[in-house]
Amino acid sequence: MNQNIVILGMQWGDEGKGKIVDFLTRTASYVVRYQGGHNAGHTLVVNNKKIILHLIPSGILHTNIICLLGNGVVISPQSLLDEINMLSNLGISLDGRLFISHNCPLILPYHVKMDILREKLLDKKCIGTTKKGIGPAYEDKVARFGLQIRDLYHESTLREKLKNIVHYYNFQFVNYYKSNPVNYDFILEDLLLLKKVFKNRIRDISLILKQAELDNKKVIFEGAQGALLDLDHGTFPYVTSSNSTIGGIFTGSGARLTQMHAVIGIIKAYCTRVGSGPFPTELTDITNDYLCRVGQEFGSTTGRRRRTGWLDLVLLSRMVMLNSISSLCLTKLDVLDGLSEIKVCIAYKNIYTDKIITNPFENFNWNEFKPVYKVLPGWQESTKGITIFSKLPILAKKYINYIENYIGQGIFIDIISTGPDRLDTIIVRDISNVNYV
Ligand code: GDP
Ligand code: IMO
Ligand code: MG
Repeated sequence: MNQNIVILGMQWGDEGKGKIVDFLTRTASYVVRYQGGHNAGHTLVVNNKKIILHLIPSGILHTNIICLLGNGVVISPQSLLDEINMLSNLGISLDGRLFISHNCPLILPYHVKMDILREKLLDKKCIGTTKKGIGPAYEDKVARFGLQIRDLYHESTLREKLKNIVHYYNFQFVNYYKSNPVNYDFILEDLLLLKKVFKNRIRDISLILKQAELDNKKVIFEGAQGALLDLDHGTFPYVTSSNSTIGGIFTGSGARLTQMHAVIGIIKAYCTRVGSGPFPTELTDITNDYLCRVGQEFGSTTGRRRRTGWLDLVLLSRMVMLNSISSLCLTKLDVLDGLSEIKVCIAYKNIYTDKIITNPFENFNWNEFKPVYKVLPGWQESTKGITIFSKLPILAKKYINYIENYIGQGIFIDIISTGPDRLDTIIVRDISNVNYV
């Protein structure tokens, strides 16, 4: 039986999900995105060529793969068109290979404007969003008046709905934000032109997935963002507006429980975060500069410098538990090659009472706690491009073992990434025959 695989980021995003999806897709038939939008930036490196995908699933480079965008993905038609054109300029055709749910909410210019104005008003307390309009688009869905792709095909209803929405937004832009209104006619005109992006691509994604199950075709579910950015389980309010934990798959694609066989949690060998919010193990010293430089930690979507810090095993264990993780994949191990010592956070200590805790989510104030570290020796030799586990330096193996032992839960690091290229990958254990869920 084909084993379907779920790929989930376990930190604050940018763990290397795109690379691993691309790597694992060799043997799949479908790759599905089910939440988030073009706030995601997934990097693939093949033959020294780098491709960054924002909306289109990371399986697209394998020409036999069909890519699906489930109903939980918020879609900016213009961004989708730009990405389709970018790929077509590289000679990658999407004809008959990209299908989109009719229920996907649309991101339109007033969402982007609202995102920008809100962030500006919040000033120093801003979330640090990608300013792509993600939050406002999901709000309109929850409020039950946002436009979906299906609305594009009923022009009179589209005109009426859009008129009301634009009126609602413009009232706020002008009266509350003291900004300019957006123009209804321009948005409508663009939208009617952009309809072509979806032509021949609209499908009932849940039915395709059901058929895939019947036909025993392998499916990869590609998460965007990371578990700590989840709207419900993350570091609220410094989160994104979708469920990047496992539950998002069901609501965002219509997949069935029986379709999830292995759930792989992707962890970077250290931590990064773009935007604001709690980051207990954050570094601000020369190690921060080192990780940023060697790990090339600049946002794939916004180009912002990512904040860096040590691996946080306390938060990681919780995310492994919450997401029914069956396997872990450790990425960017090679970035730690030059460090003489490596720290990992194993608990939190209250700065007033010295009380040790292992669940900071039960507390109301992140600032009251400081990380407790275990210091491990660095291996200080190159792991870059290693593809066989036994060839890793002994101290690198010890680092990996330490992480596995701390997390426990019967979960192991089954895949290790030692470089950005598709080929820089170690399969420690074959996960293809394991039935986990
Ligand atoms: P995603 O959003 O989770 O797909 O991750 P991003 O693509 O935003 O960020 C991960 C970055 O790390 C990209 O530039 C990748 O090319 C790069 N990368 C992925 N795996 C490795 C690795 O094992 N080693 C190194 N040095 N870079 C990696
Ligand atoms: P991938 O899929 C890293 C962050 C933003 C901000 C917060 C809210 O590449 O891992 P939003 O625009 O979603 O309302 O911003 O979430 N964020 C990401 N950080 N990787 C991502 O995606 C992210 N998508 C959103 O920086 O802090
Ligand atoms: Mg990214």
